[in-house]
Amino acid sequence: MKTINTLLIEGKSLLKDSVDTPDLDASLLLADALGCSRTQLLRAVSESVSEESEIIYKNALERRLSGECVAYIVGYKEFWGLRLAVNSAVLTPRPDTETLVEATLAVADANDARSCLDLCAGSGAVAIALKHERPHLVVTGSDISKSAVDVARANAEAHHVYVQWIESDLFDRIEGCFDIIVSNPPYIPTSMIAGLAPEVRKEPRLALDGGADGLDIIKKIIVEAKTRLNQGGALLMEADPRQMPAVTELLRENTYQAIRTYKDLSGCERAIGGIYKWQVL
Ligand SMILES: C[S@@+](CC[C@H](N)C(=O)[O-])C[C@H]1O[C@@H](n2cnc3c(N)ncnc32)[C@H](O)[C@@H]1O
Repeated sequence: MKTINTLLIEGKSLLKDSVDTPDLDASLLLADALGCSRTQLLRAVSESVSEESEIIYKNALERRLSGECVAYIVGYKEFWGLRLAVNSAVLTPRPDTETLVEATLAVADANDARSCLDLCAGSGAVAIALKHERPHLVVTGSDISKSAVDVARANAEAHHVYVQWIESDLFDRIEGCFDIIVSNPPYIPTSMIAGLAPEVRKEPRLALDGGADGLDIIKKIIVEAKTRLNQGGALLMEADPRQMPAVTELLRENTYQAIRTYKDLSGCERAIGGIYKWQVL
């Protein structure tokens, strides 16, 4: 039987030419194969590993080598401190998207918001984080993909938060108005999809492809949200930092006010929001 340390060295060496973080990935996959946390794993490096666990680990390394991301292999991803189940039907939630959650919480608190719609909810990451942080918010989450809605619903149940889930093409099957509409929509320009890392290309195209300039869905949300926000309600979205000038302009053209961006931990503008006030005639 090999030790944890030996298996970590072997895993790192196998992955080193193919992935950016061979150390981290090998340790996450071995921890999963052993059913322990990464911290527990690293505290027990001299312990022996059963042959059964070694086989599980080796299979996981092969999947990682073939371009599958760690989250799909282990079946979960941590987001906002919550472990969320993921599978190939949903985008793996990204740490950058926590910027959108932070921005939404700040706007919700400042405006005493009561209701929130998460459009393009995927695994439910944003909706679930919001409801977890602000239990008084009435949160609705929706996605065009039934499989994604199933994953999101299961995640919310696992974390004991109540979110209403709706399968809908943007606003089509959603009723009523909201104090906040938040979305991390697909925003990658079609022409860039082929050049993405193999593991990203294994994620659902529906979750990535934002049309020719990446802004197809964002444009629709900006226009349609105007009739779905309560008076003085806020729209918040994630986009690529390079898209922020164009998104700012779209929000301006559509008469949103107090438009501002929010930076992620690396200092890039990652989220953008504005307030919509109806014109009272
Ligand atoms: C970038 S992923 C974001 C998932 C999740 N909000 C997150 O941050 O991890 C975009 C999601 O939008 C969904 N989507 C794409 N087009 C849509 C549409 N027309 N209406 C609703 N959802 C859509 C996809 O199925 C995918 O789950």
